[in-house]
Amino acid sequence: MSRIIVTGGSGRLGRSVADVLVSAGHDVVSLDRAPIGTDRFREVTVDLTDHAATIEAFEAIRPESVVHLAAIAVPFSAPEDVIFRTNTAIAYNVVEAAGVVGATRLLAASSPTVVGYGAPHGWRPEYLPLDEDHPLAPWNAYSLSKRVIEEIIAMAVVRDGDAVRYGVFRPCFVISPEEWEGAPTQQGHTVRERLDHPEHAAVSLFNYVDARDAGDFVVAWLRGADRIPNGSTFFVGAADALARESLDTLVPRYLPGTESQAASLASFAPAFSSKRAADLLGWRPVRSWRTELSAGAPSAPSVSAAPPAPAESSHA
Ligand SMILES: NC(=O)c1ccc[n+]([C@@H]2O[C@H](COP(=O)([O-])OP(=O)(O)OC[C@H]3O[C@@H](n4cnc5c(N)ncnc54)[C@H](O)[C@@H]3O)[C@@H](O)[C@H]2O)c1
Repeated sequence: MSRIIVTGGSGRLGRSVADVLVSAGHDVVSLDRAPIGTDRFREVTVDLTDHAATIEAFEAIRPESVVHLAAIAVPFSAPEDVIFRTNTAIAYNVVEAAGVVGATRLLAASSPTVVGYGAPHGWRPEYLPLDEDHPLAPWNAYSLSKRVIEEIIAMAVVRDGDAVRYGVFRPCFVISPEEWEGAPTQQGHTVRERLDHPEHAAVSLFNYVDARDAGDFVVAWLRGADRIPNGSTFFVGAADALARESLDTLVPRYLPGTESQAASLASFAPAFSSKRAADLLGWRPVRSWRTELSAGAPSAPSVSAAPPAPAESSHA
């Protein structure tokens, strides 16, 4: 068992990550400005944009590991300058505080948005499925803040060497357990509405991941961080796309001119490859909208008798 700070443990991703870590036997403390009043893990209320308060909270807890999730998590949900300032300040303060208390592992959440999809003047993937080597092109404060967070982690690797293990993960559109049951997702509509209206998910190329699968990724990273390249970045997504049609036809419909790139996405394969996480950490997503929606909702679509494509086969 180790003591782990999860920043943003009140959030849709943080709740599941903290829960999975507790189930794996860790002593978890969530640092969040808005506690949820759970008895599953300890909660400390702190505004992580406050540098001194962040250091003080870390000194009181003295974690061995840190999972950094706290952020303004939705693009354009606050003024652009507020999103940029908040997300970058929090990340910098957390990395500093982890160093002050001698934490030896820190994993930070970035976002697939760093690749640049949805840009107002057009965006095309250089290839599909997207992997961690694809060029980045953030176009708003949120995605830029995430790119800066990736740079803060890279800076810390250079500063601290291999004595401290750092990592970055880019979770796809997170779906929490209650959202499978019908609660609104991050974008306001339900999972079923996202499937019924492909235009909702088209902008992010139909990516998604179950929050508990993302929690399992965090556990796998904490276990494996010592034996993989320090500072590695990972896409973390489901093994299929959040769509009823296969992406080789769906992606070109919404992103004209991508027929040749999308040809690799037959058989319901996702547009984001999690192959690196499988290869380096042995992590594989086990939940799909096909299993999770049908479990909780009798009218789940039947289109998908086809099983989700394994992450490996989705990698060109
Ligand atoms: N949800 C997604 O689909 C998704 C996709 C890609 C990346 N991410 C990233 O994953 C992380 C978690 O996302 P989420 O969906 O759980 O977001 P969320 O909004 O549900 O949770 C974020 C948490 O951070 C806390 N927080 C924000 N500002 C804070 C501050 N100044 N001090 C202390 N706590 C603060 C909030 O109170 C909240 O509990 C974020 O970094 C987000 O950018 C999320």
